[in-house]
Amino acid sequence: MADAERDAKDRQLDAERTESRGPLTTETGVRVEDTDNSLSVGERGPTLLEDFHAREKITHFDHERIPERVVHARGAGAYGHFTPYEDLSDLTAAHFLSGPDVTTPVFVRFSTVAGSRGSADTVRDVRGFAVKFYTEQGNYDLVGNNMPVFFIQDGIKFPDFVHAVKPEPHNEIPQAQSAHDTLWDFVGLQPETTHMIMWLMSDRAIPRSYRTMQGFGVHTFRFVDERGRGTFVKFHWRPILGTHSLVWDEAQRIQGKDPDYNRRDLWEAIERGQYPEWELGVQLVPEENEHDFSFDLLDATKIIPEEQVPVRPIGRMVLNRNPDNFFAETEQIAFHTANVVPGIDFTNDPLLQARNFSYLDTQLLRLGGSNFQQIPVNRPVARVDNNQRDGFAQHRVHRGGTSYYPNSLGGGCPALADENVYRHYTEKVEGNKIRRRAESFKDHYSQARLFLNSLADWEREHLVAAFRFELGKCEELSIRQRVVANLVEVDHGLAVAVAEGIGVEPPEDPGTRGHENSSPALSQANTAFG
Ligand code: HEM
Repeated sequence: MADAERDAKDRQLDAERTESRGPLTTETGVRVEDTDNSLSVGERGPTLLEDFHAREKITHFDHERIPERVVHARGAGAYGHFTPYEDLSDLTAAHFLSGPDVTTPVFVRFSTVAGSRGSADTVRDVRGFAVKFYTEQGNYDLVGNNMPVFFIQDGIKFPDFVHAVKPEPHNEIPQAQSAHDTLWDFVGLQPETTHMIMWLMSDRAIPRSYRTMQGFGVHTFRFVDERGRGTFVKFHWRPILGTHSLVWDEAQRIQGKDPDYNRRDLWEAIERGQYPEWELGVQLVPEENEHDFSFDLLDATKIIPEEQVPVRPIGRMVLNRNPDNFFAETEQIAFHTANVVPGIDFTNDPLLQARNFSYLDTQLLRLGGSNFQQIPVNRPVARVDNNQRDGFAQHRVHRGGTSYYPNSLGGGCPALADENVYRHYTEKVEGNKIRRRAESFKDHYSQARLFLNSLADWEREHLVAAFRFELGKCEELSIRQRVVANLVEVDHGLAVAVAEGIGVEPPEDPGTRGHENSSPALSQANTAFG
């Protein structure tokens, strides 16, 4: 690639790329004559502690592993770029959305959620879709998933949810599966999971390729323009190749035959020059229309139906370069929902607010201290200058005699700016401190039903089969029964079809309780699977 075509991030990384040119040296640059025989007393005698090369070699190896991500441990990533179709400065002050002449380098990491770093790719799971935009105003991270809703409404439940999803604590079984008692126990006891569990049991949870996956920011965020005017926004990534899934039987066979299936597919497509592309779209809701919906915009278990607010395409992303080193780049990249740039702000979605705390907190542990933004893949292409100092693995050599603000001595401390700065949206907030969720968060079933009704007949059959397969593995019958009772609130036909396949009492027809939600296609599915 000609130098002029390379982006700012690619050029920045040049300073960090190393290739072996020999001869072999220690970390302190001393040439080594023998790396096969340790220094010993006589040919058959004990090894000497003074063999600094042997000690350094083994010590470094001993320290090669870092903690895997507490969730989304298994992933694959690539570099690329994003270009908007048009100038969006009437909506947002974000410079990277200011017109087609601005192209921004990106790194994208796709992941599964529950499995460990070495688990198989094609498991039934949510997929992460995390994008780091290296913008001229600093790094912006859109840390999304391939499903537009989430399991829980409040981040305080996240540790409980993840403990229920991960292998059970006494025997570390089952690895990377949605088929166990703890998950279904949590799901049955927390009905807000119902909408997302429908997505998880659908074919969306077994994508054929990362290249054929949609992505969603999930939460409602805010665009903020130069004058401080806000607009609610939901983000959507649409794959240009279309959205495609595996079928369950295929997915299970591939797990055995090629556990790296999705990772390999992404790598090889980019190596072949078949660069995957996505279109970024937004759903926009003016501030004054916040309460025009039957659900709450701050509830991450809800979509905004596209019939109500269409998706407006705003730009295109291409992934065209594989990383040089998996650990240095894909493993050490640190995404964070709170990495925003001027023009993009949060809302009071309680799930998002918890995420804004959690990512930095975990990365301080995972990446060994407070200087991980200096790791090459995380480093912004924007200039960095502040009074933060020291800490483990400090790479910057700060010059000057002072490191505080305000400062009348000079000595190298940065000044504040009044242009192109981050300004938080000035939202009026008042109320008493309470631990209670609003009534507007309480409907857990209408959108689950909407999702069911959007499926083709064969997709519904797959959904029923997945519920039977996964819930049928749950040994505790009372848990199966509780989940089925939640499904009745979505659709009686669905609940009966699932119940009959897993040996639990088919629920009574809620039509007698005023519901009209039974789906004829599910009766067919029931026949097909009964
Ligand atoms: C990691 C998405 C909810 C905590 C991730 C990653 C993605 C993601 C894509 C992987 C990032 C990567 O590739 O490195 C989401 C989405 C959520 C959600 C879309 C809901 C809408 C939460 C919540 C919490 C949380 C509620 C905590 C309260 C974490 C943590 C990591 C993570 C701790 C590991 C980060 C790291 O080690 O670098 N999440 N997540 N997530 N998420 Fe979430």
